[in-house]
Amino acid sequence: MADTLTITDNRTGRQYEVPITDGTIRAIDLRQIKVEANEFGLLSYDPAFLNTANCRSSITFIDGDKGILRYRGYPIEQLAEQGTFVETAWLLLNGELPTKDELEAWTAELGRHVEYHENVKKLVEAFRHDAHPMGVFLSVVGALSTFFPDAKQVLDAGSRRTQIARLIAQVPAVAACAYRHSVGRPYVAPDPDLSYAGNFLSMLHRGIEREYRPDPVLERALDVLFILHADHEQNCSTSAMRGIGSSQADPFAALAGAAAALYGPLHGGANEAVLRMLAEIGSVDQIPGFIRSVKAGERRLMGFGHRVYKSYDPRAAVIKETAYRVFEVTGRNPLLDVAIELERIALQDEYFVGRRLYPNVDFYSGLIYEAMGFDPGMFPVLFAIGRTAGWVAQWQEMLEDKEQRIARPRQVYTGAGQRDYVAVDAR
Ligand code: CMC
Repeated sequence: MADTLTITDNRTGRQYEVPITDGTIRAIDLRQIKVEANEFGLLSYDPAFLNTANCRSSITFIDGDKGILRYRGYPIEQLAEQGTFVETAWLLLNGELPTKDELEAWTAELGRHVEYHENVKKLVEAFRHDAHPMGVFLSVVGALSTFFPDAKQVLDAGSRRTQIARLIAQVPAVAACAYRHSVGRPYVAPDPDLSYAGNFLSMLHRGIEREYRPDPVLERALDVLFILHADHEQNCSTSAMRGIGSSQADPFAALAGAAAALYGPLHGGANEAVLRMLAEIGSVDQIPGFIRSVKAGERRLMGFGHRVYKSYDPRAAVIKETAYRVFEVTGRNPLLDVAIELERIALQDEYFVGRRLYPNVDFYSGLIYEAMGFDPGMFPVLFAIGRTAGWVAQWQEMLEDKEQRIARPRQVYTGAGQRDYVAVDAR
């Protein structure tokens, strides 16, 4: 059986045979389908990319029906249980888990780049005290492009590697500065002797003590959260990273755009929205009324549903487990009871079951973050730190892909035909 698709154009009766590769046809093959020879040819119309693959990628695999997520073939559950974020970042970038020597060298390389420019502090200081940390984060990450003008050499593999290390090493510092600014505390220098998550906790919480040692349970939980958020194939923010990067903008500028895409409440801003929603519900007895308003279409159950997962998001399952470990240290978040009951009711309700709406990564992550002392405004920033590894891995893959060019979708024009300009007095 040939791997081809035969298309009959009923307008002309003509038949076309187009190849099928990896379960896809190439949209450009449709262009030969025309009624008149001078026509543009058939386009595929796919708002919000519901059924369009934009690239070939070997980084992350998702089976949304079965609830499977793998980075470079490794199940997310195993990486979260046994791996670290730093080796996961290497894995995403290089395709294999690092050897012992590679891991040592990679850790040292990140350590060399953790120190941030003094002016980063001044940039952060320019923001109002109540500025949303995600607004600060994406602005300062974009501004980093001016600190590293060599980042413009995006076609140079060596330069790319340097920028990637800089980004992964420095995003925690930018996030920590945004946080310390919001609480009016002086900025803390990075400590390269601590782990990736430990150094971040130190930059967040260190006071006047001589030596800061993060709580090992919280340090590990944060590392796990970074692993879980590290990549998720062609989501909204990663598509933004690839789209901006396709114009050969430098990776700091592209990452600022990706962070902006993540900021929205339908994407990485959902964890913040979940927490605000749980706080608004307040107690278990308010849940039925809330569910009624969701079913009436008045609002969404934040932290539920996913474009790709049509069963339980595997990341949500790991996060739920991690939450219990964190609560042993921090004390139980009282909103956990609301979340558990909300989940129990939603998973039985025909509205959610029929639409295959399950908890996603954001449903429980906010509860952990809040228990760890973060304000909801910081939640999407925490997401962005982990996702930076995926963004840069996808950006690198895009630039190395010979088939990729500047991203430039087509449109179906629905506006007015040609008409003549009318002077303002005559309108
Ligand atoms: N609460 C209530 N109804 C929902 C929800 C929800 N959270 N999500 C989807 N639906 C309904 C939607 O109204 C529609 O119903 P109908 O067919 O009757 O019109 C149906 O389910 C299909 O929804 P959709 O909006 O077409 O689905 P989508 O693939 O375009 O959207 C989503 C995916 C994640 C944006 C959406 O499920 C949503 O808004 N969820 C809440 C926000 C959220 O938790 N986002 C985090 C996503 S995971 C992490 C990340 O990507 O950053």
